[in-house]
Amino acid sequence: MKILCLETTCDETAAAVIQDDLTVLGAAVASQDPLHGPFAGVVPEIAARAHVERILPIIHQALTMARIAVKDLDGVAVATTPGLAGSLLVGLSAAKALAVALRIPLIAVDHLQAHIYACRLAEGPDVFPCVGLIASGGHTSLYRCQDALDFTLLGGTRDDAAGEAFDKVANLLGLPYPGGPAIQAAAAQGNRQAFKFPRSMLAEAERLEFSFSGLKTAVRYAVRDVVGEADKGSWPIGLVADVAASFQEAVVDVLAAKAYQALERCRLKTLCVGGGVACNARLREKLHEMAAERAFRLVIAPQALCTDNAVMGAIAFERLKAGQVADLDLDIQPGLVR
Ligand code: KG4
Ligand code: ZN
Repeated sequence: MKILCLETTCDETAAAVIQDDLTVLGAAVASQDPLHGPFAGVVPEIAARAHVERILPIIHQALTMARIAVKDLDGVAVATTPGLAGSLLVGLSAAKALAVALRIPLIAVDHLQAHIYACRLAEGPDVFPCVGLIASGGHTSLYRCQDALDFTLLGGTRDDAAGEAFDKVANLLGLPYPGGPAIQAAAAQGNRQAFKFPRSMLAEAERLEFSFSGLKTAVRYAVRDVVGEADKGSWPIGLVADVAASFQEAVVDVLAAKAYQALERCRLKTLCVGGGVACNARLREKLHEMAAERAFRLVIAPQALCTDNAVMGAIAFERLKAGQVADLDLDIQPGLVR
């Protein structure tokens, strides 16, 4: 059985053809980073229009890689929640059209469950039950994941998502969008102890929540204290690297500590981590150190499956197994449903 999975929740247009043994037969992603770069963040209207242009070529690319024709598909899956409304609608419309034309089942995918399923794909069937940490441009959340489809929210961010904080701080430092990779690269030359930035709610183990807006403001003031209003060309050498390294360390400290607090709260021994920020090398290093010291099992999605992709839509097979086929009146749910 072969399913076409579509992903258009935010600013990546992605398609993948996956077989029921979870073999990936073909996968393609079109990033919109160059379109949103000038605005230092995702512009919903631009994202939706770009999905419209790209969805058919990307489906074609995935089918070509899989060496199959559209008529060989046995199902079509699409991420319907959460995400940007205009973006979600493009994927859903394409999926419905295929389901009707080919008379194949339509399967709804929860994008956040899919981010954790990326860990399951990499590791094998036994990652559940686990604590799931999703850190991306739109979300920073901890879940108790009983199985692939049974998630309970433990806590999320009260303001900015971790990836959003990376993007905003990068912009403040004059680094390109997306900010995560740019900050990571700058941080590699910097001193992570140069600035003492706040670690919000770190000590409050009973609150499995995040807050990154205070950190963002602290970075702004720290830079202003050093350079005043001077423009970037005259900033001291090494300032950007030191701020980037110190900021990254603060985010990583909080993500790692809160994930561990969630493991303790749930009395679980497996932590699965996904989402774009999980690409971060310092976060991966810190989590691995922590897992070794505190003896829990750590599964971080492979980098290509951390940022948005359609391969993680393979969770659709779990839905099929559970008999969860969608009707044609399936709708998008832009906000978090849990
Ligand atoms: O999961 P994703 O592709 O899209 C959303 O669902 O939001 O995540 C994108 C986010 C961006 O904010 C980007 O800056 C961040 O992931 N990101 C990183 C790294 N690579 C991507 N953040 C920190 N370090 C990285 N290496
Ligand atoms: Zn995502």
